[in-house]
Amino acid sequence: MNLIHRVGSIKPLNEDTFLMTIESAEIAAAGLPGQFVNVRCGGPDAYLRRPFSLCRVHRDQGTFDIGVQIRGRGTQALSLMREGDPIDIMGPLGRGFSLKSEDKRIAVVGGGIGVFPLLQLLREHPAAEKLALLGFRIRDQVIMEKDFRDECHELCISTDDGSWGVAGFVTSLLEKKLAEKKIDRVFICGPVPMMKRAVETCKGKNIPCEVSLEERMGCGIGACLVCACKVKLDGCWDYAHVCKDGPVFSGESVIFE
Ligand SMILES: Cc1cc2nc3c(=O)[nH]c(=O)nc-3n(C[C@H](O)[C@H](O)[C@H](O)COP(=O)(O)OP(=O)(O)OC[C@H]3O[C@@H](n4cnc5c(N)ncnc54)[C@H](O)[C@@H]3O)c2cc1C
Ligand code: FES
Repeated sequence: MNLIHRVGSIKPLNEDTFLMTIESAEIAAAGLPGQFVNVRCGGPDAYLRRPFSLCRVHRDQGTFDIGVQIRGRGTQALSLMREGDPIDIMGPLGRGFSLKSEDKRIAVVGGGIGVFPLLQLLREHPAAEKLALLGFRIRDQVIMEKDFRDECHELCISTDDGSWGVAGFVTSLLEKKLAEKKIDRVFICGPVPMMKRAVETCKGKNIPCEVSLEERMGCGIGACLVCACKVKLDGCWDYAHVCKDGPVFSGESVIFE
Protein backbone atom coordinates (compact mmCIF):
# COMPACT_ATOMS: atom_id res chain seq x y z
CA MET A 1 0.00 0.00 0.00
CA ASN A 2 1.43 3.39 -1.02
CA LEU A 3 1.12 5.77 1.95
CA ILE A 4 2.56 8.91 0.39
CA HIS A 5 0.03 10.97 -1.54
CA ARG A 6 -0.12 14.65 -2.50
CA VAL A 7 -2.14 17.63 -1.35
CA GLY A 8 -4.17 18.93 -4.32
CA SER A 9 -5.70 22.02 -2.75
CA ILE A 10 -6.90 23.55 0.51
CA LYS A 11 -10.00 25.75 0.66
CA PRO A 12 -11.37 27.47 3.77
CA LEU A 13 -14.98 26.62 4.72
CA ASN A 14 -15.12 29.00 7.67
CA GLU A 15 -12.62 30.49 10.11
CA ASP A 16 -11.57 27.17 11.70
CA THR A 17 -12.57 24.59 9.09
CA PHE A 18 -11.17 23.77 5.66
CA LEU A 19 -11.57 21.30 2.84
CA MET A 20 -8.43 19.49 1.69
CA THR A 21 -8.33 17.72 -1.67
CA ILE A 22 -5.83 14.87 -1.81
CA GLU A 23 -4.51 13.20 -4.93
CA SER A 24 -4.68 9.42 -4.52
CA ALA A 25 -5.98 7.18 -7.29
CA GLU A 26 -5.97 4.15 -4.90
CA ILE A 27 -8.08 5.73 -2.15
CA ALA A 28 -10.38 7.41 -4.68
CA ALA A 29 -10.98 4.03 -6.36
CA ALA A 30 -11.58 2.05 -3.17
CA GLY A 31 -13.12 4.50 -0.69
CA LEU A 32 -16.74 3.97 0.37
CA PRO A 33 -19.09 6.45 2.07
CA GLY A 34 -18.54 6.46 5.83
CA GLN A 35 -15.00 5.08 5.66
CA PHE A 36 -12.11 7.18 6.93
CA VAL A 37 -8.43 7.82 6.32
CA ASN A 38 -5.73 8.01 8.98
CA VAL A 39 -3.43 10.94 8.33
CA ARG A 40 0.05 11.67 9.65
CA CYS A 41 -0.34 15.36 10.31
CA GLY A 42 3.28 16.17 11.19
CA GLY A 43 4.18 18.86 13.62
CA PRO A 44 5.63 18.36 17.11
CA ASP A 45 3.59 16.08 19.42
CA ALA A 46 1.26 14.90 16.64
CA TYR A 47 3.07 11.64 16.03
CA LEU A 48 -0.09 9.50 15.98
CA ARG A 49 -2.17 9.59 12.83
CA ARG A 50 -5.49 11.47 12.98
CA PRO A 51 -8.72 10.04 11.48
CA PHE A 52 -10.84 11.99 8.95
CA SER A 53 -13.94 10.81 7.09
CA LEU A 54 -14.06 10.64 3.33
CA CYS A 55 -16.17 13.68 2.57
CA ARG A 56 -16.25 13.55 -1.24
CA VAL A 57 -14.60 11.16 -3.67
CA HIS A 58 -13.83 12.09 -7.28
CA ARG A 59 -13.17 8.67 -8.75
CA ASP A 60 -12.63 9.97 -12.29
CA GLN A 61 -10.02 12.49 -11.13
CA GLY A 62 -8.28 10.14 -8.67
CA THR A 63 -8.80 12.57 -5.77
CA PHE A 64 -10.82 12.78 -2.57
CA ASP A 65 -11.72 15.53 -0.10
CA ILE A 66 -11.55 15.59 3.67
CA GLY A 67 -13.12 18.36 5.73
CA VAL A 68 -11.03 19.35 8.73
CA GLN A 69 -11.87 21.44 11.76
CA ILE A 70 -8.80 22.80 13.54
CA ARG A 71 -8.91 21.46 17.10
CA GLY A 72 -5.36 20.83 18.27
CA ARG A 73 -1.79 20.29 17.16
CA GLY A 74 -2.44 17.74 14.41
CA THR A 75 -5.20 19.61 12.62
CA GLN A 76 -3.26 22.88 13.05
CA ALA A 77 -0.26 21.28 11.32
CA LEU A 78 -2.53 20.00 8.52
CA SER A 79 -3.91 23.51 7.98
CA LEU A 80 -0.37 24.74 7.24
CA MET A 81 0.17 22.29 4.38
CA ARG A 82 0.22 23.65 0.85
CA GLU A 83 -0.71 22.43 -2.64
CA GLY A 84 1.80 19.86 -3.88
CA ASP A 85 3.05 18.86 -0.41
CA PRO A 86 3.47 15.12 0.19
CA ILE A 87 1.07 13.71 2.78
CA ASP A 88 1.24 10.32 4.53
CA ILE A 89 -2.19 8.64 4.60
CA MET A 90 -3.47 5.15 5.44
CA GLY A 91 -6.83 4.18 4.03
CA PRO A 92 -9.56 3.74 3.24
CA LEU A 93 -10.29 2.23 6.69
CA GLY A 94 -13.29 0.99 8.64
CA ARG A 95 -16.83 0.00 7.75
CA GLY A 96 -18.99 2.59 6.05
CA PHE A 97 -22.73 3.19 5.64
CA SER A 98 -25.05 0.61 4.08
CA LEU A 99 -26.07 1.32 0.47
CA LYS A 100 -29.21 -0.82 0.13
CA SER A 101 -31.32 -0.54 -2.99
CA GLU A 102 -34.46 -1.42 -0.99
CA ASP A 103 -34.07 1.87 0.94
CA LYS A 104 -35.95 4.09 -1.48
CA ARG A 105 -36.27 7.15 0.79
CA ILE A 106 -33.41 8.09 3.06
CA ALA A 107 -32.63 10.95 5.41
CA VAL A 108 -29.21 12.09 6.59
CA VAL A 109 -28.92 14.02 9.84
CA GLY A 110 -25.66 15.88 10.45
CA GLY A 111 -24.52 18.13 13.26
CA GLY A 112 -21.54 20.50 12.85
CA ILE A 113 -18.53 18.78 11.30
CA GLY A 114 -20.54 15.54 11.46
CA VAL A 115 -21.93 16.59 8.10
CA PHE A 116 -18.71 15.59 6.31
CA PRO A 117 -19.22 11.82 5.82
CA LEU A 118 -22.87 12.34 4.84
CA LEU A 119 -22.05 14.17 1.60
CA GLN A 120 -20.44 11.19 -0.13
CA LEU A 121 -23.24 8.99 1.21
CA LEU A 122 -25.80 11.20 -0.57
CA ARG A 123 -23.69 11.08 -3.74
CA GLU A 124 -23.51 7.28 -3.81
CA HIS A 125 -26.72 6.05 -2.22
CA PRO A 126 -29.13 4.56 -4.80
CA ALA A 127 -32.29 5.93 -3.04
CA ALA A 128 -34.84 7.73 -5.22
CA GLU A 129 -35.57 10.35 -2.56
CA LYS A 130 -32.93 11.92 -0.33
CA LEU A 131 -33.56 14.33 2.51
CA ALA A 132 -30.70 16.18 4.25
CA LEU A 133 -31.14 17.75 7.69
CA LEU A 134 -28.10 19.69 8.87
CA GLY A 135 -27.72 21.50 12.19
CA PHE A 136 -25.15 24.10 13.24
CA ARG A 137 -24.69 26.34 16.26
CA ILE A 138 -24.72 29.69 14.44
CA ARG A 139 -24.76 31.01 10.90
CA ASP A 140 -20.94 31.39 10.74
CA GLN A 141 -20.60 27.65 11.32
CA VAL A 142 -22.82 26.64 8.39
CA ILE A 143 -20.68 24.78 5.86
CA MET A 144 -21.14 23.09 2.48
CA GLU A 145 -24.74 24.23 2.07
CA LYS A 146 -24.60 24.32 -1.73
CA ASP A 147 -22.70 21.03 -1.94
CA PHE A 148 -25.47 19.30 0.03
CA ARG A 149 -28.24 21.04 -1.89
CA ASP A 150 -26.76 19.66 -5.12
CA GLU A 151 -26.83 16.07 -3.83
CA CYS A 152 -30.30 15.74 -2.31
CA HIS A 153 -33.96 16.39 -3.09
CA GLU A 154 -34.65 18.43 0.02
CA LEU A 155 -32.25 20.25 2.33
CA CYS A 156 -33.26 21.76 5.69
CA ILE A 157 -30.79 23.64 7.86
CA SER A 158 -31.20 24.56 11.50
CA THR A 159 -29.12 26.79 13.74
CA ASP A 160 -29.39 26.78 17.53
CA ASP A 161 -29.94 30.57 17.61
CA GLY A 162 -32.03 30.84 14.43
CA SER A 163 -29.41 32.99 12.65
CA TRP A 164 -29.73 30.73 9.55
CA GLY A 165 -32.47 28.31 8.52
CA VAL A 166 -34.90 27.07 11.16
CA ALA A 167 -34.27 27.97 14.80
CA GLY A 168 -33.57 25.03 17.12
CA PHE A 169 -31.85 21.66 17.10
CA VAL A 170 -31.59 19.42 14.06
CA THR A 171 -33.17 16.63 16.13
CA SER A 172 -36.41 18.66 16.25
CA LEU A 173 -36.26 18.94 12.45
CA LEU A 174 -35.90 15.16 12.28
CA GLU A 175 -38.95 14.64 14.52
CA LYS A 176 -41.00 16.98 12.32
CA LYS A 177 -39.91 15.40 9.04
CA LEU A 178 -40.46 11.83 10.23
CA ALA A 179 -44.01 12.81 11.20
CA GLU A 180 -44.60 14.15 7.65
CA LYS A 181 -42.74 11.69 5.43
CA LYS A 182 -42.12 7.99 5.07
CA ILE A 183 -38.39 7.36 5.41
CA ASP A 184 -36.82 3.90 5.06
CA ARG A 185 -33.48 4.56 6.78
CA VAL A 186 -31.79 7.44 8.61
CA PHE A 187 -28.02 8.09 8.67
CA ILE A 188 -26.67 10.17 11.56
CA CYS A 189 -23.34 11.84 12.39
CA GLY A 190 -22.61 14.58 14.90
CA PRO A 191 -22.11 15.27 18.61
CA VAL A 192 -23.05 12.37 20.91
CA PRO A 193 -26.13 13.99 22.54
CA MET A 194 -27.52 14.77 19.09
CA MET A 195 -26.89 11.23 17.81
CA LYS A 196 -28.44 9.73 20.95
CA ARG A 197 -31.60 11.84 20.56
CA ALA A 198 -31.85 11.12 16.83
CA VAL A 199 -31.51 7.36 17.43
CA GLU A 200 -34.26 7.49 20.08
CA THR A 201 -36.51 9.32 17.62
CA CYS A 202 -35.91 6.70 14.93
CA LYS A 203 -36.45 3.83 17.37
CA GLY A 204 -39.75 5.42 18.44
CA LYS A 205 -40.88 5.29 14.81
CA ASN A 206 -39.38 1.87 14.07
CA ILE A 207 -37.12 3.34 11.41
CA PRO A 208 -33.69 1.70 11.11
CA CYS A 209 -30.79 4.08 11.51
CA GLU A 210 -27.00 4.10 11.32
CA VAL A 211 -24.59 6.31 13.26
CA SER A 212 -21.00 7.23 12.53
CA LEU A 213 -19.07 7.40 15.81
CA GLU A 214 -16.05 9.51 16.68
CA GLU A 215 -13.59 8.21 19.25
CA ARG A 216 -9.99 9.10 19.89
CA MET A 217 -7.86 6.66 17.90
CA GLY A 218 -4.38 5.25 18.06
CA CYS A 219 -3.53 2.76 15.34
CA GLY A 220 -6.76 3.01 13.30
CA ILE A 221 -6.61 -0.69 12.37
CA GLY A 222 -7.82 -2.63 15.42
CA ALA A 223 -4.45 -3.26 17.06
CA CYS A 224 -4.22 -0.85 20.02
CA LEU A 225 -7.74 -1.01 21.52
CA VAL A 226 -7.87 2.76 22.20
CA CYS A 227 -11.13 3.37 20.33
CA ALA A 228 -13.49 1.06 22.27
CA CYS A 229 -17.22 1.77 22.34
CA LYS A 230 -20.07 -0.21 23.96
CA VAL A 231 -22.47 -2.17 21.77
CA LYS A 232 -25.37 -4.53 22.48
CA LEU A 233 -24.68 -8.17 21.82
CA ASP A 234 -27.11 -11.09 22.31
CA GLY A 235 -29.05 -9.38 25.11
CA CYS A 236 -25.80 -8.35 26.80
CA TRP A 237 -23.10 -5.83 25.83
CA ASP A 238 -19.51 -5.87 24.69
CA TYR A 239 -16.83 -3.51 23.49
CA ALA A 240 -16.41 -2.88 19.77
CA HIS A 241 -13.66 -0.96 18.05
CA VAL A 242 -14.71 2.18 16.23
CA CYS A 243 -11.79 1.90 13.78
CA LYS A 244 -12.37 -1.72 12.73
CA ASP A 245 -16.00 -2.60 13.54
CA GLY A 246 -17.14 0.96 12.69
CA PRO A 247 -17.03 3.91 12.55
CA VAL A 248 -20.57 3.22 11.27
CA PHE A 249 -22.82 1.10 13.52
CA SER A 250 -26.53 0.41 13.52
CA GLY A 251 -28.14 2.99 15.81
CA GLU A 252 -29.95 0.22 17.68
CA SER A 253 -26.69 -1.50 18.65
CA VAL A 254 -24.80 1.45 20.15
CA ILE A 255 -24.92 2.07 23.91
CA PHE A 256 -24.48 5.81 24.34
CA GLU A 257 -22.93 6.61 27.73
C1 LIG B 1 -13.80 7.97 12.37
C2 LIG B 1 -13.52 9.43 12.62
C3 LIG B 1 -13.77 10.34 11.61
C4 LIG B 1 -13.48 11.70 11.82
N1 LIG B 1 -13.75 12.56 10.80
C5 LIG B 1 -13.45 13.87 10.94
C6 LIG B 1 -13.68 14.77 9.88
O1 LIG B 1 -14.17 14.39 8.79
N2 LIG B 1 -13.35 16.07 10.07
C7 LIG B 1 -12.82 16.53 11.27
O2 LIG B 1 -12.52 17.73 11.39
N3 LIG B 1 -12.60 15.69 12.29
C8 LIG B 1 -12.90 14.37 12.16
N4 LIG B 1 -12.66 13.51 13.20
C9 LIG B 1 -12.08 14.05 14.46
C10 LIG B 1 -10.56 14.28 14.25
O3 LIG B 1 -9.93 13.04 14.07
C11 LIG B 1 -9.98 15.01 15.46
O4 LIG B 1 -10.53 16.30 15.53
C12 LIG B 1 -8.48 15.12 15.31
O5 LIG B 1 -7.90 13.85 15.50
C13 LIG B 1 -7.93 16.09 16.34
O6 LIG B 1 -6.51 16.08 16.22
P1 LIG B 1 -5.64 17.28 16.80
O7 LIG B 1 -4.24 16.82 16.89
O8 LIG B 1 -5.89 18.53 16.04
O9 LIG B 1 -6.26 17.51 18.21
P2 LIG B 1 -5.69 16.96 19.60
O10 LIG B 1 -4.62 17.87 20.05
O11 LIG B 1 -5.43 15.50 19.53
O12 LIG B 1 -7.01 17.19 20.46
C14 LIG B 1 -7.65 18.48 20.50
C15 LIG B 1 -9.06 18.33 21.06
O13 LIG B 1 -9.87 17.54 20.16
C16 LIG B 1 -10.40 16.41 20.86
N5 LIG B 1 -10.32 15.23 19.97
C17 LIG B 1 -9.22 14.69 19.45
N6 LIG B 1 -9.51 13.61 18.70
C18 LIG B 1 -10.84 13.46 18.76
C19 LIG B 1 -11.74 12.52 18.23
N7 LIG B 1 -11.35 11.51 17.47
N8 LIG B 1 -13.04 12.68 18.52
C20 LIG B 1 -13.46 13.69 19.29
N9 LIG B 1 -12.65 14.62 19.82
C21 LIG B 1 -11.37 14.50 19.57
C22 LIG B 1 -9.51 16.22 22.06
O14 LIG B 1 -10.20 15.61 23.14
C23 LIG B 1 -9.11 17.62 22.39
O15 LIG B 1 -10.08 18.27 23.18
C24 LIG B 1 -12.95 12.15 13.05
C25 LIG B 1 -12.70 11.23 14.07
C26 LIG B 1 -12.99 9.89 13.86
C27 LIG B 1 -12.72 8.91 14.95
S1 FES C 1 -7.52 2.88 17.05
FE1 FES C 1 -6.29 1.18 17.63
S2 FES C 1 -7.81 -0.36 17.89
FE2 FES C 1 -8.97 1.30 17.14
